[in-house]
Amino acid sequence: MRILSGIQPTGNLHLGNYLGAIRNWVLMQDEISAQGGTCLYFLADLHAISMPHDPATLSANTREMVAALVACGLDPDRSILFNQAQVPQHAELQWLLNGTARTGWLNRMTQWKDKAGKNREGASVALYTYPVLQAADVLLYQSTHVPVGEDQKQHLELARDIAQKFNNDFASEENPVFTLPAPMIPPEAARIMSLRDASGKMSKSDPSDMSRINLTDDADTIMQKVKKAKTDPEPLPSEIAGLEGRAEAKNLVAIYAAMSGSTIEQILTDFGGAGFGTFKPALGELLVERLAPINARFVELRQDRTALDAILRKGAEKARALAVPTLERTYEALGLVRG
Ligand code: ADP
Ligand code: TRP
Repeated sequence: MRILSGIQPTGNLHLGNYLGAIRNWVLMQDEISAQGGTCLYFLADLHAISMPHDPATLSANTREMVAALVACGLDPDRSILFNQAQVPQHAELQWLLNGTARTGWLNRMTQWKDKAGKNREGASVALYTYPVLQAADVLLYQSTHVPVGEDQKQHLELARDIAQKFNNDFASEENPVFTLPAPMIPPEAARIMSLRDASGKMSKSDPSDMSRINLTDDADTIMQKVKKAKTDPEPLPSEIAGLEGRAEAKNLVAIYAAMSGSTIEQILTDFGGAGFGTFKPALGELLVERLAPINARFVELRQDRTALDAILRKGAEKARALAVPTLERTYEALGLVRG
């Protein structure tokens, strides 16, 4: 198995990013490396320039994200951790795949439609061809499985379509150039909602800092945010059905379950009948206990630019070595002379 996933270096990581993405990466690293497979995780900094951005913020966020990933348990010796900008093969393969991707396919991408909005004429070309770069990211390494959120499923299907068409047009069924990647979508429970309004997801763009738990929050802040989280006056039910229509309660129980590695049923067996006066301090303590070591490593590592740059350099070197053979085969299949 070869696992690959990317995340945009947006900064300000929160509990939603941790439970929805990063923790899965760490779990997968442990599982896959034990089976002799390879995990590649990267910061999609090339994707980040598809929207208006500030250069200084982009480089600061890229380093901050590496610090966060390592603090959360990604081990740069077992996983290949890098940023796209140091592996030029991504951009090269994207150009080669531009010959295969169809504009009709890109026009159907919902992320493009959402992000460009009514101003298509003013959107960057990079925003439009974003999914082709994503396909290059995946196909460059012959990835078999790609862990992503539901919102990225369409981009993965496009990557498969591009791989399939390229193999049909320029290779043979017995000797394809690209492996067709399969998306791995985590279970619904991984979606963490805002602490202030559980109808929206926990997000870095929420103007209220009380709506989320940041990886930079200290113990007191975490406890305070949990205690102030919106809830209802009812005690917790003993069965899942009792959470129906109680989005805030459901969210807090789901966070407890995810953080403790237990099921929602089990949490309700333990806390059924208890009020939030009991449950919130227990949840706060659990979060502090699990996040404190991550927070400590993160705060220390994010200041060590030399160490962070060394991690990225080493990761990029390993990534390039894996990328080159596929890229060369692609040039060759297209009839491009490489001397
Ligand atoms: P944000 O909404 O804070 O801007 P991003 O869109 O940058 O977060 O998401 C980065 C990663 O974290 C993605 O893989 C996404 O699926 C995951 N993620 C973000 N918010 C949540 C959440 N509230 N619950 C679960 N996963 C999330
Ligand atoms: N587009 C993805 C996101 O916004 C990030 C990403 C870029 C990615 N390239 C990828 C994810 C390749 C998986 C595989 O979340």
